[in-house]
Amino acid sequence: MGKLDNKTTIVTGGTSGIGKSIVKHFLSEGAQVICVGRDKSKVGDLLSNKDYESRLIFFESDISKEDGISKLEAYVKRNYSHLDILVNCAGIWHTHRLEDVTYDEFDLIFKTNTASVIFMTKAFMPLLKEARGNIVNVSSIGGLERHIAGRSQYLYAASKAAVIQFSQLCALNYADDVRVNCICPGPTDTPIYLNRDFSWVKDQIPMGRLGKAGDVAKAAVFLCSDDADYITGSIVTVDGGASLK
Ligand SMILES: NC(=O)c1ccc[n+]([C@@H]2O[C@H](COP(=O)([O-])OP(=O)(O)OC[C@H]3O[C@@H](n4cnc5c(N)ncnc54)[C@H](OP(=O)(O)O)[C@@H]3O)[C@@H](O)[C@H]2O)c1
Repeated sequence: MGKLDNKTTIVTGGTSGIGKSIVKHFLSEGAQVICVGRDKSKVGDLLSNKDYESRLIFFESDISKEDGISKLEAYVKRNYSHLDILVNCAGIWHTHRLEDVTYDEFDLIFKTNTASVIFMTKAFMPLLKEARGNIVNVSSIGGLERHIAGRSQYLYAASKAAVIQFSQLCALNYADDVRVNCICPGPTDTPIYLNRDFSWVKDQIPMGRLGKAGDVAKAAVFLCSDDADYITGSIVTVDGGASLK
């Protein structure tokens, strides 16, 4: 028996890094997963795995756009009787000197990292309420005044701080029906850094290594399972102690 048996779950950013690991861990725990992203080829290995085929579907959507979310909402309402879990994991990372920040980058980063979380939550809260389900939002220790990945992540850190505040207000206002928690990973070894060498960061991490996508996925399984049924509004750092420095 899995910790998430038959739980219908949406995972945004499920095609890579942390989100893909969340998809795999949720499938291993018995969940039914709607994996949302733009590039289906990145989950070809999971979609062709016979153990998962009846419980995993890929839905192509650009969640930084209003119509990307509304077509996903229509699809889920048409094809599923209920929704138990929403994991908002899609995100992009940028660092720029303040003098190089542009409105276009602001739009891209805030629409992808922040607006997607807000409007996915708005779209799916009614179904989650009906199922007495829960939400996990993936923010960052950058949203918690911890900038070991660089002091120039102005837009990124601001976009992730907004996710934390939004999550906590949702937790407060929907406490009767829907648990809402937030995970703040530290530097984690995924494709998000576009092949930049990030190994120097590990010297700043008390536990002496970069995070692995699975470290975050295991926290997501816990928060979405009944083991966490009295936990809402929490900010769970998964960072090897990085945010203590
Ligand atoms: N890695 C770290 O060190 C770290 C630290 C703290 C927080 N985080 C957060 O963790 C989350 C996952 O990051 P990661 O490291 O796993 O990054 P990643 O490997 O680059 O994966 C990013 C995911 O986001 C999806 N995505 C991006 N823009 C999208 C859009 N407009 N529409 C739909 N999907 C979109 C990508 O899907 P497609 O490519 O299919 O579009 C991909 O699945 C992000 O929110 C990130 O900010 C990461």
